[in-house]
Amino acid sequence: MADIYDKVIELARRRGFVWPSSECYGSVAGFIDYGPLGAMMKRKIENVWRDFYVAREGYFEIECPTVGIESIYLASGHVKGFADKMIQCPHCKEYHRADHVCAAHDIEYAETKSLVELTEILKTLPCPVCGESFEGSEVYYFNLMFNTTIGPGSQRVGYLRPETAQGIFTDFSRLLRFYRDKLPFGAVQIGKSYRNEISPRQGMIRLREFTQAEAEIFVHPEKKDHPNFTRYAQRVVPLWGIKQQQTDSNPIEITMKDAVTSGIVANEYVAYYVALTHDFLVTCGADPEKIRFRQHLPDERAHYATDCWDAEILSERFGWVETVGIADRTDYDLKAHAGESGDSFTVFIPYDEPKIGFEKKIVPDMGALGPRFRGKAKAVADALSDSEPTDKGAEIILDGEKILITPDLYEIREQETQIRGEDVRPHVIEPSYGIDRILYTILEHTYEEEEVEGEIRKILHMKPRIAPVQVAVLPLMSRDGLDTIALELMDKIQEEGLIAQYDDSGAIGRRYRRQDEIGTPFAVTIDYDTKEDNTVTLRDRDSMNQIRCSIKEVPEILRDLIRG
Ligand code: GAP
Repeated sequence: MADIYDKVIELARRRGFVWPSSECYGSVAGFIDYGPLGAMMKRKIENVWRDFYVAREGYFEIECPTVGIESIYLASGHVKGFADKMIQCPHCKEYHRADHVCAAHDIEYAETKSLVELTEILKTLPCPVCGESFEGSEVYYFNLMFNTTIGPGSQRVGYLRPETAQGIFTDFSRLLRFYRDKLPFGAVQIGKSYRNEISPRQGMIRLREFTQAEAEIFVHPEKKDHPNFTRYAQRVVPLWGIKQQQTDSNPIEITMKDAVTSGIVANEYVAYYVALTHDFLVTCGADPEKIRFRQHLPDERAHYATDCWDAEILSERFGWVETVGIADRTDYDLKAHAGESGDSFTVFIPYDEPKIGFEKKIVPDMGALGPRFRGKAKAVADALSDSEPTDKGAEIILDGEKILITPDLYEIREQETQIRGEDVRPHVIEPSYGIDRILYTILEHTYEEEEVEGEIRKILHMKPRIAPVQVAVLPLMSRDGLDTIALELMDKIQEEGLIAQYDDSGAIGRRYRRQDEIGTPFAVTIDYDTKEDNTVTLRDRDSMNQIRCSIKEVPEILRDLIRG
């Protein structure tokens, strides 16, 4: 029997939300096309996200290339570490992730297990596809980045970005200047990311090309109190932390203030974005009963994170699906890019009052140094002050020549100096959203079937802000001037910035059903009474209630209903 996933995907394909990509060539797993309604819905989710992060948080959006040079991903650790453990079935030749094979056979999997240990475990198990043994095959690493070369005949390696975040990190110095050299500040990016997933068999949940909406917030390492924490301090969010041992029964419903005070969430910044994410997901139409926040266990965390909470959304087919990750990435990335590029990736933080400190000064004894250094006193002094003396002396470079100056030829003096501040490498708090997964779960949560007058009515109870079509304009007949009145009304509704669809084909009941199943929250019907008294019928999708109102007032009423 078809489950809700089958029903949602059937509707999504038939009505133009989501299609298999390049279907005429047989399509390939892990790629999807958004049809007219899906693309519209996706933009709307992205725009709600912008309302939260750009308009309200004040973080500007940037846009970086999806192709990155090798240095970026050498520094970030993706070249070395962004890999899944994989095995190929020697019989059916299918590739499998080692953790997926373990899960299919209810065997505990830990990321810490070595390739040899996993090979030993897997060779005792049947292949989930053909049922034959894995005996004779070995588990090995498969890097998930797509690679390419940049330019013709070039040896320059490039990668399709596996996350949008790295573009923000590599722009750090420019962003710092843009934000006038002050912490905290943040930048966001919405765009495609690419991962060459091993065997994506989960429809829209595991894609090889997907859209991420990421915020990178740069904070002082010792100041992780969010300036607007009070906004979410009292919000109650279901948390499933390490401290609660993570059994199915025990996500706790707790205010974010209590979560921080009791140490369940490490700091206010992470707690704030957990609560904001809860707010965002509910605003977009995810069912609050099917959202929880799960803390990563230490062996689950990405190589860059010290703490991470996933927003998981319950799907009937896929169980709890990770849709958002909120991580404290510490200074991992900025430090890594500083090492690879030579830039400092630090912020100068002035002290309230300058401090008195001591500076070591190495003063050459020019008399003792002799005639070889005559006329070069300043060059020697500068070179010495840049050097790091050892017991053997200080090595300097003078006129391109390396020279060892022994300790009897200089004096180290401590001199008092004023220190105005310090260079600090910020920590990064990162809320990272997978838009495709969010879109799918909204479709699933809002989908409903009910029987009306002996027929099945399919409905997407989508929030008006997210619905791809917000108003249907339906003339009862496409003649007698009703169509002209309807088209004039369309214009007025569109002038309010709303997305309206005109439909004059088929019986009115059928037209309502067509709009219900794409989630259109309101329909306006123009009938023969309209010509007499300038009123129309306004219908609500969920209750199917209808009211009569003046045609003149309709655009404004709709604007208020939809925009709130
Ligand atoms: N910059 C951090 C980062 O990329 P992630 O947990 O790997 O973290 C963030 O990804 C989000 O991106 C996930 O929570 C998920 O919603 C989405 N995502 C990751 N891989 C995906 C895939 N193969 N298909 C669809 N969405 C994916």
